[in-house]
Amino acid sequence: MSILSELSTIVGDAFESAGVDPAYGQVVVSSRPDLGQFQCNGALPAAKQANTNPRTLADNVVGALGGDPRFTDISLAGPGFINLTVGPEFIGTAAELIRTADSMANPLNTPVKVIIDYGGPNVAKELHVGHLRPAIIGESFKRMIRYAGHEVTGDVHLGDWGTPMGQLIVELQRNHPDLPYFDPDHTSDYPKAPPVTVQELNDLYPIASRRAKQDESVANLARLATTELQEGRRGYVALWNHFRSISIEAMRAIYGELGVHFDRWHGESTVHDRIAAMVDRLRSEGVAVESDGALIITVAEEGDTRDIPPLILVKSDGGYNYHTTDLATIDGRIEEGFVAMFYFVDSRQSDHFEQLFRAARLGGIASEDIQLEHAGNGTVNGRDGRPLKTRDGNLPLLREAAADARRLALERMDERGLAVDYPDQERREVARLVGLAALKYGDLRNHRASNYKFDLERFTSFEGKTGPYLLYGAVRMKSILREAKGRGLDPGPIGPPQTKEDTNLMLRLLQFPEVLARAIEHRAPNQLAEHAYEIVADFNRFYETCHILEQPDEELRSTWLGLVDLAHRQLTTVLDLLTIEVPERM
Ligand code: ARG
Repeated sequence: MSILSELSTIVGDAFESAGVDPAYGQVVVSSRPDLGQFQCNGALPAAKQANTNPRTLADNVVGALGGDPRFTDISLAGPGFINLTVGPEFIGTAAELIRTADSMANPLNTPVKVIIDYGGPNVAKELHVGHLRPAIIGESFKRMIRYAGHEVTGDVHLGDWGTPMGQLIVELQRNHPDLPYFDPDHTSDYPKAPPVTVQELNDLYPIASRRAKQDESVANLARLATTELQEGRRGYVALWNHFRSISIEAMRAIYGELGVHFDRWHGESTVHDRIAAMVDRLRSEGVAVESDGALIITVAEEGDTRDIPPLILVKSDGGYNYHTTDLATIDGRIEEGFVAMFYFVDSRQSDHFEQLFRAARLGGIASEDIQLEHAGNGTVNGRDGRPLKTRDGNLPLLREAAADARRLALERMDERGLAVDYPDQERREVARLVGLAALKYGDLRNHRASNYKFDLERFTSFEGKTGPYLLYGAVRMKSILREAKGRGLDPGPIGPPQTKEDTNLMLRLLQFPEVLARAIEHRAPNQLAEHAYEIVADFNRFYETCHILEQPDEELRSTWLGLVDLAHRQLTTVLDLLTIEVPERM
């Protein structure tokens, strides 16, 4: 049980004895710490409901709470806000309770089977910084709800079945017409080795797409090749398998480096075999109708304030598109028993998902009790506030950004004399972790839906709200605990706090269950990112005023060490939920 739920029960009882629903007794962390640690704003709606004066009702609630020794101060403010401050005993007991609990999260009522669709990279396209947001926000959300107790599967949902595949086939044929993949009469096996390297494939992609854009006949060839691939033309499938596997290998490397781990590497192509039956059913039920040779589903609704165009289920050339595979994917996932699907994908795709979800409901694929949600992310901008671009007009590659972060991290560490006398390999490993923390925290501290400025100089600083600042805090906690252990001192149990600083740190740590719940509810890792920062800031104030290891009072010293232990474990947990790994020392 969290301190807030415990306080809500106590205050709820007081509301009940004042004659109103105890649910109004909800207690939250105070927005005015000068007036009290906690507050309850329930008297206003409760009074409205009971048709009485809020101030009088609040007075009665305070009266009912009166004399409860757990509170050291209760006061009223404004039209009926109740401010509450609890005593050190209460805080210490609550802190010790979470220090010794198995999980720091509130227990879950009903765990559900959830799928998170994130990452969404396309075959043959190297990952750029734009892929950072959906990857780490999705990964972080996955870790959060897994920690909370849900049954979660993460799916990369590779873009591997659209027209770019046909464009690549056509472009490769233009360069290497003699390859066996293009010969319709080739009946024996195809070569095991891929005909291109991943680098060549990445270089081919923009050329192929440019040529298709500029030349209508190339575009037609590419569309035809795509349809033939989708229909199973042997040579194309063999070639496409090469494209796919060399791409996946490269993607795995960079995602792995970022700590982004998918449980499945499905893609648009995975559901190909479900499509025909689904299309037939939607057609025969009249959900999908013919229009200009294509098969479409009208999804516009009365009351729409913007134009929501129909979803194209089958193109006029018979090919399937992004919507078709996504719809069949929903179908397949429901068959597997998933009851909630979250899509961590760029906000600019919101229309796509709106059309998709409507079609899924209309077509009877997803009933209303299946949750479908697009948790859109904002874009990564340059320091000038415009979408980030390199000199050649492309987005910087993700692996290059990670390398830059690593290099800058090492510079910053050297400036501060951190890890300078460590073995070189360890020093580099620390810089790698600091660089990654900088990159990820620079992203995750922003709300998922907002755009942010990509600024590695700022992200790698050890001061301010940055990844390096947090890692430094975590490492400091670790080193105190190590030092204590060396002196034979055990952390905890946590007793009542004695100073303003230890009180504040305990109160901070006690907020975790609600912070996590809020981060999950809003699909917003930045709430946790903020909490991590506040833990370190509160910890640093505590560390500066309370000389933990030098404290002569044994009981207080073990309280303080217990507090360091709890802070350290909670911070590491939060950072892990944010995909950030902490070095042993620095
Ligand atoms: N591959 C897509 C793109 O690059 C993103 C995929 C997102 N997931 C999905 N199920 N549509 O835009």
